[in-house]
Amino acid sequence: DPLSIGVDVGGTRLKAGLVDRAGAVLATARRDTPARSAPSAVLEEALLSVIAELRSGAAATGHRADTVGVAVAGLVDAARGTVVFAPHLPWREEPLRDRLAARLDLPVVIDNDANAAAWAEHRFGAGRGESHLLLITLGTGIGGAVLTEGRLQRGRHGLAGELGHVRVVPDGRACPCGNRGCWEQYVSGTLLRRDGQELVRRGGAASAALAAACGGDPDRLRGEDVTRLAREGDPASRAVLAAAGRWLGTGLAGAVAALDPGTVVVGGGLSEAGDLLLDPARAALAQHLLGRGHRPVPAIVPAALGAGAGLVGAADLARSQ
Ligand code: BGC
Ligand code: NA
Ligand code: ZN
Repeated sequence: DPLSIGVDVGGTRLKAGLVDRAGAVLATARRDTPARSAPSAVLEEALLSVIAELRSGAAATGHRADTVGVAVAGLVDAARGTVVFAPHLPWREEPLRDRLAARLDLPVVIDNDANAAAWAEHRFGAGRGESHLLLITLGTGIGGAVLTEGRLQRGRHGLAGELGHVRVVPDGRACPCGNRGCWEQYVSGTLLRRDGQELVRRGGAASAALAAACGGDPDRLRGEDVTRLAREGDPASRAVLAAAGRWLGTGLAGAVAALDPGTVVVGGGLSEAGDLLLDPARAALAQHLLGRGHRPVPAIVPAALGAGAGLVGAADLARSQ
């Protein structure tokens, strides 16, 4: 049975997987995303190298991958195969699909990472059987995807769903998109890291576990460290996650008022924090939602495919082209 390669091009990491038709990931490979200031050719080489690694791994085990799907953390016009703009990546008006197809000699499909994740969760995960799904992916930024009657809503130009850049704080924190106060500046993997680093810099007993995790060097602290310590019970890390969760729920109140989804699925690296993040989000959503007490409040559930949802969805979108 031919397989499909899915790649999730995030602001921090490239995650790739060899995916079968049931959405199972048979092998994985990853790279760090080159710095945003690096030329776009460097990012393209990293992407090609992670794909090459999976292709040769597949060949060595007697498998064959005959399609490639790429999920990109940015505004993607899937119909034209173009990355229009990406706040965390160097691509601007990049005809990525055709460039990759020419170099790989395989059919390629590209889409927004949150759209790909929503597709995967709808097909194989937490969104099965849900016709009205809102998916939020929390990685370097916040991605959004809206599935209505089982179909991805793309908007007039293919750019719908960019909830991460809805302004939640007037003149708030600067966002790499060029605006200020965007929702993703208040809850994302990047923010978790930044808040954790801030605590390490401040010092004191409360941040001792965080300081130990990075050997006392705040620059070495990662978002994953904060999540892991929170899971292990560290109160400071739990407080960071709870604050992020409240921002998540507050923003969701606006999105749910606008879209009326049946279920909200939360994916991306940060979703691995589970209820430490989602319980405060559920509380904030219940507290701020328009018409509360007179309407159903959608469940907020973690992505069943975890941080792999984007690559699984991309692989499946490529297969079904
Ligand atoms: C981008 C989205 C992307 C999200 C998650 C945002 O900053 O604008 O296109 O889906 O990050 O990666
Ligand atoms: Na989207
Ligand atoms: Zn922004």
